Amino acid sequence: MALQKQLPDSALLRQTFSLFPSGVACIGAVVDGVQEAIVASSFTVGVSLEPPLVSFAVQNSSTTWPVIRRAPFVGVSIMGSSHSDTCRQIASRDKARRFDGIDAHISSTGALFVPDSPVWLECSIYSEVPAGDHHVVLLEVTALGFNPELNPLVFHRSSFSRVHGDD
Ligand SMILES: Cc1cc2nc3c(=O)[nH]c(=O)nc-3n(C[C@H](O)[C@H](O)[C@H](O)COP(=O)(O)O)c2cc1C
Repeated sequence: MALQKQLPDSALLRQTFSLFPSGVACIGAVVDGVQEAIVASSFTVGVSLEPPLVSFAVQNSSTTWPVIRRAPFVGVSIMGSSHSDTCRQIASRDKARRFDGIDAHISSTGALFVPDSPVWLECSIYSEVPAGDHHVVLLEVTALGFNPELNPLVFHRSSFSRVHGDD
């Protein structure tokens, strides 16, 4: 392998970054009575243990995040191995149908969670840091739930796969 030193274009960067496998999270809340969410493969845990912080990067062009961020609490669902279609649906442009057929769990605080996820984190926004064409959003975990028997969804090479093959 040889290092390419010329400034990479965004297509080459996307291709390069896509070789890094990640989990996928759904970040959502009910705002003004409407279920709002975005799907993020930039989500990461373990930013900080004290206080407990997780993060994701949101495109500055997002029209949904400015709505979600008005909520006092947001729900983070780590998407499970059965959630590839659910991810595509929640990430679709057709906002009115993003939750068709999805029986989302709404906490008493208005945080939105996807059923059958291995992890749920209820969070408040800790800070938002400008980062180029994205903002890095730091979320402070205020409550959690998990089911270790459910496997996570993996995003790799721009498509969905699974940690344990076809489970
Ligand atoms: C697998 C996958 C991963 C994504 N990861 C991110 C992400 O990390 N950050 C982001 O801003 N959007 C991400 N998106 C796009 C958003 O989920 C969503 O489609 C976009 O925010 C929709 O635009 P809107 O915010 O204007 O409604 C991802 C979409 C998919 C399908």
